[in-house]
Amino acid sequence: MTESTGLHSATAAAEPVPAGIDTNTPAISRVYDYLLGGKHNYDVDRQASQAMIDAVRETPLLAKANRAFVRRAVEFLVGEAGIKQILDIGSGLPTAGNVHEIAQSIDPNVRVAYVDKDPIVLAYGRALLSTDDNTTVVTADLRDPDGIFRNADVRRLIDTDEPFAVLLGGVMMHLEDDEDPTGIAARIRAHLPSGGYLVHCGCADPGDPRAKELNRIFAETHMGTRCFRPVDEQLVYFDGLELIEPGFVPANTWRPSPDFPEPDNPAHAMLVAGIGLKP
Ligand SMILES: C[S@@+](CC[C@H](N)C(=O)[O-])C[C@H]1O[C@@H](n2cnc3c(N)ncnc32)[C@H](O)[C@@H]1O
Repeated sequence: MTESTGLHSATAAAEPVPAGIDTNTPAISRVYDYLLGGKHNYDVDRQASQAMIDAVRETPLLAKANRAFVRRAVEFLVGEAGIKQILDIGSGLPTAGNVHEIAQSIDPNVRVAYVDKDPIVLAYGRALLSTDDNTTVVTADLRDPDGIFRNADVRRLIDTDEPFAVLLGGVMMHLEDDEDPTGIAARIRAHLPSGGYLVHCGCADPGDPRAKELNRIFAETHMGTRCFRPVDEQLVYFDGLELIEPGFVPANTWRPSPDFPEPDNPAHAMLVAGIGLKP
C-alpha cells in the first residue's frame, strides 16, 4: 500500500496472471481496479494510473465516486423501482460491493448478467459466481449491443419482455466518436421494455482544464480519446426516457449518501450520472 494514495500494489507472486492476459498494455478494467484499491492489476496499469494521479490528484476519488454511484443506482433500482433483472455492461473486475451482491442483499431473486469486453473480468468473475445460478459473466462488446442481447447466457437470465435495467457504469466514455456512442445508446434503449431503466455514469468535461489533461493521459494510455465528453453530448443517451430525480447531474449530487467520498470536492464536476425510465 503506498502512503500517498492508499492504493494497493499487487505483486506478480501474490496475483498470478490469468492465461491470455496482456500485461504489457494498460487495461481500463485493471487501472480502475487499482484506483479503487483492488489487487487485480499489473505494473503497466499502476504506471498509467500514476500518470493520471500526477496530473489530477483526485483521480482515485473520481473512480470511487463512480463506484459509489453504481451502488446507489442498484439500491434505487432494486429497493425502490422493484427491478428484478440487471444487465451490467462494462461491469469491470469483481470489487467490494459487486452489483449482484448489492442487488441480492435487497432481493435475493434478482438476476444479474455481467458483460465486459476484457476477458480478465470473466477469469475472475467465474470463480466468484461458480455457485450462483442467478448471476453470469459474459465476454462481449458494447460496440455490438444487439449481439449482447442475442447472447445465450444473457438471454438465460434477462427476459427482455419484462422490465430490466441496463447499467452503463463508466463504459460509454471509452467509445470513440466514430464508434457512434449516441447510436449505441439508442440501440440499447430500443431493447428496453416499458418500465425498463438505463443507468449511465462517467467522466465529463465541465470546462475544468484538468478534464482536458486527464483526457490527454487517457488517450496516451489507450483508454480512449474522448473519455471526458461535454455533458450535453452524454445527455442524449437518455433520449425518450424520463430522467429520475435529480436528473443527469454531477454524481456527488445524485441522491447523496453517507458513503459518498469527499462529497464537496469540486473535482466531482468531472463525473456525471443519471438514470432514465422508459415510459
Ligand atoms: C471504468 S470500468 C467501470 C466498471 C463498472 N461498470 C463501474 O462503473 O464500477 C470500465 C469497464 O468497461 C469495460 N469496457 C470498456 N469498453 C468496453 C466495450 N466496448 N465493451 C464492453 N466493455 C467495455 C472495461 O473493460 C472496464 O472493465
